Amino acid sequence: MKNKKPIIAIDGHSSCGKSTLAKGLAKHFKYKYIDTGAMYRAVTLYVIENMLFRKKNIDEIKLKNAFENGDVKIGFQYNPKTLKSETFLNGKNIENKIRGLEVSNLVSPVAVIPFVRHELVSLQREMGKEGGIVMDGRDIGTNVFPNADLKIFLTADAKIRAQRRYKELKDNGQDVSFDEVLKNVTERDKIDSTRKTNPLKQAKDAVLLDNSHVSIDEQLKNAINLVESLT
Ligand code: DC
Repeated sequence: MKNKKPIIAIDGHSSCGKSTLAKGLAKHFKYKYIDTGAMYRAVTLYVIENMLFRKKNIDEIKLKNAFENGDVKIGFQYNPKTLKSETFLNGKNIENKIRGLEVSNLVSPVAVIPFVRHELVSLQREMGKEGGIVMDGRDIGTNVFPNADLKIFLTADAKIRAQRRYKELKDNGQDVSFDEVLKNVTERDKIDSTRKTNPLKQAKDAVLLDNSHVSIDEQLKNAINLVESLT
């Protein structure tokens, strides 16, 4: 292993349980967990709340100015009550707001913008540089940490992923249909995999895990074995 405390990169398709696996690993090994999707979602919420989105176009000039003026400050804070790391935008807890379909439907177009990626990737590298970290996203193993100690590429059948996400949203009281969720999942996969800057793709040295028919516990056990085999 190159680092004393490893960097573990988990990439993969939308709603395939990357964060569940990443959190499980972080808890098991007492590493930090960074949800990079939440960072792109936070920028998307900024775009929505500041009306930088009109007629399918994002006002990139205003968004860039906002970054330059330090008006888009993203952070995470551990909540001991929920035992979760929650996302903050300019000091406000936005964890719930960023999980709904409004943000989900706009996040991939926001994540395509090169300066947004540049800003967030710098932040991610800074957050992970000491190691002892599990980071999930789309370009962690290919771009953010190409020398990560372990790279996992996670996927599952699109309908199974949509069904899981649909249940999660319903359980959170959101008014959505299965078809809407399936459309969102497949469209995000398409935009994320075909964009020019750092598209979603499996790194050559990533371990591919398909969890369509694998339980959360079984998957975690497999991943723990992979981490343990690093030492
Ligand atoms: O992991 P998630 O579904 O919360 O991510 C939301 C979106 O953010 C995803 O559709 C694409 C984008 N994203 C990205 O482009 N790069 C990352 N490292 C993480 C997420």
